[in-house]
Amino acid sequence: MELKSFIYWKLVYPIILRLDKFRGLDFLSEMSPEALQFNLKRAHGYGPSGKNFLKEVLSDFNISSTDSIIDVGCGKGSAMKYLLDFPFERVDGIELSGLIADIATQNFKKLNENRCRVFTGDAGYFNQYDDYNYIYFYNPFPPIVMAEVIENLKFSLQRIDREMVIIYMSPTCNHIIAESGIFTQVGAYYKNDAWITVYSNRSIDKSVLSYNKKIHRSIEGTPLNDALKVYLQNYVLKAYK
Ligand SMILES: C[S@@+](CC[C@H](N)C(=O)[O-])C[C@H]1O[C@@H](n2cnc3c(N)ncnc32)[C@H](O)[C@@H]1O
Repeated sequence: MELKSFIYWKLVYPIILRLDKFRGLDFLSEMSPEALQFNLKRAHGYGPSGKNFLKEVLSDFNISSTDSIIDVGCGKGSAMKYLLDFPFERVDGIELSGLIADIATQNFKKLNENRCRVFTGDAGYFNQYDDYNYIYFYNPFPPIVMAEVIENLKFSLQRIDREMVIIYMSPTCNHIIAESGIFTQVGAYYKNDAWITVYSNRSIDKSVLSYNKKIHRSIEGTPLNDALKVYLQNYVLKAYK
């Protein structure tokens, strides 16, 4: 284990857990899909992705109060908490487990946050995407559900034409999004063994992200994208094909 990771997991993480508990919050404790009695064909378990890496990536985008984001598979709201540091009009989430969704709702109530709503249900059947132009995933479910979600995003775009940006941490269903015929990958970020890929339904020159030289640098042909291909081939495609 790298020294930085060791310090985080052994020293910092237990302190944050205790401080959260003391404040009546629970953003971080993990739950396995088995403990949640999930159908493993439709769901992964809960693990938080709210970290500085997510904030660093979001800082590359010109987020304003006309933007809204939904975390699909939001869990206890760990990523939403970080997303609230940006001037989004809404930071919402959809979560399969009623138990976890209630914890997220309580967390934001305790923080007096009124920009957040947590919906409960299977993301594959959720179809209220019209309010959002940013979509966030942290490896919430297998390809079968991702394909359903992408279909619903397409329907939303047919109803209301707009740019939609997808931010995907640990992108295990990258191929489903790439094969959608509507979204193309416009960016990729890597830090401490974690990947975030970014997709848009607009070409990069017409995208709100176009002003951003960092995203430009990381598209096709750059060393970063080569590394992403290796990650996808070695891990994701082996796991799912
Ligand atoms: C890896 S966690 C990510 C949590 C949160 N997005 C974050 O980044 O901190 C994945 C979450 O997706 C939820 N999930 C799994 N399958 C789902 C589905 N089919 N519909 C909605 N939520 C789902 C799980 O219950 C879990 O809370």
